[in-house]
Amino acid sequence: MTDKLWGGRFTEKAAHWVDAFGASIGFDQQMAKEDLEGSLAHVKMLGQTGIIPQADADKITAGLHHLQKELAAGKLHFTVENEDIHLNMEALLTAEIGPVAGKLHTARSRNDQVATDLHLWLKHRLPEIKEALTNLQTVLVGQARAYADTIMPGYTHMQHAQPITYGHYLLAYFEMFQRDWERFDFTQKHTDILPLGAAALAGTTFPIDRTQVAKELGFDQLYHNSLDAVSDRDFGLEFLSNSAILMQHLSRMAEELILWSTFEFNYIELGDDFSTGSSIMPQKKNPDFAELIRGKTGRVYGALMGLLTTMKAIPLAYNKDMQEDKEPIFDTYNTILGSLHIFTGMLSDLTVHEKRMAEATTHDFSNATELADYLATKGVPFRQAHAIVGELVLKGIKSGTALQDMPLSELQQAAPQIESDVYAELTAKAAVNRRTSLGGTAVSNVLKEVARDEKIIAAHAKE
Ligand code: ARG
Repeated sequence: MTDKLWGGRFTEKAAHWVDAFGASIGFDQQMAKEDLEGSLAHVKMLGQTGIIPQADADKITAGLHHLQKELAAGKLHFTVENEDIHLNMEALLTAEIGPVAGKLHTARSRNDQVATDLHLWLKHRLPEIKEALTNLQTVLVGQARAYADTIMPGYTHMQHAQPITYGHYLLAYFEMFQRDWERFDFTQKHTDILPLGAAALAGTTFPIDRTQVAKELGFDQLYHNSLDAVSDRDFGLEFLSNSAILMQHLSRMAEELILWSTFEFNYIELGDDFSTGSSIMPQKKNPDFAELIRGKTGRVYGALMGLLTTMKAIPLAYNKDMQEDKEPIFDTYNTILGSLHIFTGMLSDLTVHEKRMAEATTHDFSNATELADYLATKGVPFRQAHAIVGELVLKGIKSGTALQDMPLSELQQAAPQIESDVYAELTAKAAVNRRTSLGGTAVSNVLKEVARDEKIIAAHAKE
């Protein structure tokens, strides 16, 4: 026998470096609080069902409460010899109250224990992520209202396409973050399931009361198959997948902010708090934080791919491979929460160069579709209208004349249907405000969507 908690059938003590490789205590101590919480609920049930004497349950409960205090005071000392948070806690409890501590592990295995800890850990944190998303959405909607009529170029293929408003642009991201919010909300349901009671893999012979434990820990549901209970990491994968998609959204917008703060675009300027200077070039104002968010996206994608790969060929039920689930989940949680906070601050703090944005729509031929639509409403088949306007654009590019600056006679030469009322339709403002189809960029639409989105945000708070 060795001095490990599972050392009965062992004769040789492992070297420290071997223990260190197998240990998870370096990172799973982040679940220390949840581990104690799970143990407290378990021992309460063991006492109440009479599986262990109530007096022993009371001693264990007192010991666990003491460990909770020591943990909060930062006084607990963990070792790699005790491998993980579960065995470390058991060793500490034994040191505290003696061999009666050994009764805590009745009808329990580390396999259902670690699954319970991780479910609890994520269950406690998902609301924070949702709240951070809501805060970002609140800033987006507030700014969408403020910039509902701020004209800017809309792009496809990074080429000027049609004018839109900055408010409309911001609401596109509101929609993406709303889907993110809903995905995390859904994952909350898949996290809110209690594995404890599955024991090692097959259930237990003791007359446990899993419903009571679930109630005690605030779980909404129970796993109904013990093999699934200990080997399911779908909730973690969902979390990572949601996070990867969220980072994709943040990264795309970060990229636009980086681009738009260049000398060439100059549509926006990031606040001083969210920029850095150069150690050699005194004029520099670098968008480091937006770049970091873009960069961290790779790390979150990596976490998802890592865990998917770890899980891909694991036979039922528990295998030690699954110890690799925690680091990517912990790291991703820190990364997305940090990125959301920084992004929200950065967005609140940026200056929009409205004049510059609007100017960028005036000589870029982004009103070509307006002229084609104008001709189509005068009965010219759209294909033909497209060709007529295409030729006018070519002429305009050559002579450096925008469509709205061409004399009526020149326009009429191309299409006699054109009348003087055309000029009113060739402004960016008209182009924007004529797009009143549901979801279109018209100012009235944007304001309607803002009102709808404010209701969505209010509903988040009621969750
Ligand atoms: N540290 C382990 C993990 O994180 C806990 C479960 C260990 N179970 C076992 N049968 N070795 O996965």
